[in-house]
Amino acid sequence: MVGKNATEILAADAAGIAEAARRLALGGLVALPTETVYGLAARADAMAAVARIYEAKGRPSFNPLIVHVASLEQAETLALFDEAARILASRFWPGPLTMVLPLRDAAGLAPAVTAGLETVAIRVPAHPVMRAVLSEVDFPIAAPSANRSGFISPTSPEHVLASLNGRIDAILGGGECRQGLESTIVARVADGWRVLRPGPIDIGEKLRQTTFQDGEAITAPGQLAQHYAPGKPVRLNAEAPHADEFMIGFGSVAGDCTLSQKGDLTEAAAGLYACLHLATKSAKPRIAVAEVPEEGIGEAINDRLRRAAA
Ligand code: TXA
Ligand code: MG
Repeated sequence: MVGKNATEILAADAAGIAEAARRLALGGLVALPTETVYGLAARADAMAAVARIYEAKGRPSFNPLIVHVASLEQAETLALFDEAARILASRFWPGPLTMVLPLRDAAGLAPAVTAGLETVAIRVPAHPVMRAVLSEVDFPIAAPSANRSGFISPTSPEHVLASLNGRIDAILGGGECRQGLESTIVARVADGWRVLRPGPIDIGEKLRQTTFQDGEAITAPGQLAQHYAPGKPVRLNAEAPHADEFMIGFGSVAGDCTLSQKGDLTEAAAGLYACLHLATKSAKPRIAVAEVPEEGIGEAINDRLRRAAA
């Protein structure tokens, strides 16, 4: 059931973290800060709690959730790790890398978490507040981005409130997310890894899958649909705004909101969703975005921008 009460904001101190853990244990919905974006958390082993995530977000039930755990050891109780997966875990966890791996029979996850797939998406997050919550609970935490389905991901408690106020129990405030883009998702395939969603971590050319088998169609179901919709038409690679456009600038192209004046892609990633949220709120009916180079994390930024414009 979607709660009728206003969503409570908890401070990210010991008392707030304990209260968030208590509410999660009782099957509640709490938005938690991660290093990428805010997640809408529920205990992943409880069917009713997971059902509330789908209801609060208005998320289609075929779109599975990422499971967050405290350690590789805990992750191994849920998914089957081979040597290649352990190597990635030791290199990039805790951090913004999600691995799609075979689900263990005895994982004990609510079936809705994996949307009936035989794989599970799993990560060990790095944000200290998220880690503190994970260490206080004795269950894995399912958490999609804390926004209504299809809309822009939240990088601040204010963004979460704007889309989910009254639909979730609480928000554990942890300031702004440092990375600002959702985790990189990779799926284990025969000869390496398939990148399902580009993100803050580049696993490197050597580890990426080089050949593709016939009929091998692994996708992140949530990446198929139109996503990250700011609710207005978006024009990419703009050099200057038209009169009715909210301009998102980058480098030498100035805007109403500028991703990074000095052309720094890390800074641009961290501020992308905040600019898109401002663009949505603006009185201007359209959005224009300056060109962002496709290098490094620019690949993930452009992935999100193309979806926003789709
Ligand atoms: O940074 C992040 O990953 C954030 C924070 C909260 O951890 N979470 C996030 O979750 O972005 P969400 O639900 O917005 O995106 C998860 C994506 C979806 O596109 C979903 O389809 C895909 O992961 N996914 C989940 N389980 C999968 C699976 N077993 N196989 C393929 N894709 C999967
Ligand atoms: Mg999302």
